Amino acid sequence: MTPQELMREAERARRHSYSPYSQFPVGAALLLDDGRVVHGTNVENASYGLSVCAERNALWKAVSDGLRGFRAIAVTAREGHGAPPCGSCRQVLHEFAPNLWVYWRDATGRIVRRRLSALLPKAFGTRDLKVSKKK
Ligand code: THU
Repeated sequence: MTPQELMREAERARRHSYSPYSQFPVGAALLLDDGRVVHGTNVENASYGLSVCAERNALWKAVSDGLRGFRAIAVTAREGHGAPPCGSCRQVLHEFAPNLWVYWRDATGRIVRRRLSALLPKAFGTRDLKVSKKK
């Protein structure tokens, strides 16, 4: 599946966005190694801080269904707005797929692609939880 095709899936996902407070609908499409695509949207709440981003919803949906092997994620926001994943989403995606391809649109509408590892260098991860032996 090409980045353009995955972006179209993200645009489809965005239709279900629940974003009455920000008026900033976001759609995400997560591509699995086997070709399956999992959609996610941002879901907001009257208690604003409880809102959750599209990317995290897509990942959590997939993981909750026992899916693994994440290859790429495409993210799209309101028409004419690119949306690279926020810092929290980068961290959550990193847990399962540090080398994930991430696609979003720049201000001119062109699709930008970066590895998650480039978007979140020196990430905190499971390895950092291991206590190292003092000399
Ligand atoms: N949002 C996402 O869904 N993904 C991001 O990576 C950035 C922000 C959502 C959260 C909120 O519902 C709206 O966009 C405005 O911040």
